[in-house]
Amino acid sequence: MQVCQEIKKLRNLLDQYRYDGKAIGFVPTMGYLHKGHLSLIESSAKENDITVLSIYINPTQFGPNEDLDQYPRDLENDKKLAEEAGADIIFIPDNEMMYKTHHATFVNVNGLTNHLCGASRPTHFEGVTTIVTKLFNIVQPNRAYFGQKDAQQAIVIKRMVEDLNMPLKVVVCPIVREKDGLAMSSRNAYLSKEERKQATILYKALQEAKSRIEQGQRSATEIRDLMEQMIQTQPAATIDYVSIVSEKTLEDIDVLEGKILIALAVKMGKTRLIDNLRLEVN
Ligand code: PAF
Repeated sequence: MQVCQEIKKLRNLLDQYRYDGKAIGFVPTMGYLHKGHLSLIESSAKENDITVLSIYINPTQFGPNEDLDQYPRDLENDKKLAEEAGADIIFIPDNEMMYKTHHATFVNVNGLTNHLCGASRPTHFEGVTTIVTKLFNIVQPNRAYFGQKDAQQAIVIKRMVEDLNMPLKVVVCPIVREKDGLAMSSRNAYLSKEERKQATILYKALQEAKSRIEQGQRSATEIRDLMEQMIQTQPAATIDYVSIVSEKTLEDIDVLEGKILIALAVKMGKTRLIDNLRLEVN
């Protein structure tokens, strides 16, 4: 596995692979890899000749009081895990390389980014779509891999790729969960033992919603209230949102019908966790 810190070096390497007709898969990450990331690398390695992983903690997607400085880092372990999972190249740029002093261009996806996490993190998605565009331009992959855990991010990126005619396919891979259902996330590392225990309520609430819907419940308010009540039984939990939205528009719905997304963001102590469930309701 090759490690590249410079855009020029990465481009030269990838140009050669492209010239040889190789398909390039790309997995953008902020590092501190867990099994969720590894499943993206494994999917890419299966479906492409060359897999590029980027590790870059992108400052523009963090709000002023968020966890940019504390974001967990373990580059040596990441390299080991990435290689075992099948990555061929790791791209590890630094801030100077990604945002030159006079950087003035940002990418915005309107509408979709006003809902869910966008409502409480108003600058987050602009940071994500800008860095992902830059990384796509640098790597020029045939396919790019994202996790369903960041459901809104995946939907926003798919919209951006379609709207801007970016010549690549976005592949969204299933959420990878711990044995007790907690969705894997680099931020789980922040949880105390007690918060970690209480955090299992998020998956339980999603599962309860699913089961009520399967039993015929079609009122979004009823399901949302029930989920909120369940989550509020845990003293460490503060709800940011529990939302039931159309998967297409990310707008709240009243009656459950068609492709829906049940999404939540909850702080367990100081750690903000997200999770979701996609359903097709007839
Ligand atoms: O999902 C993430 O880890 C980040 O938002 C991404 C896509 C790597 C952009 O910084």
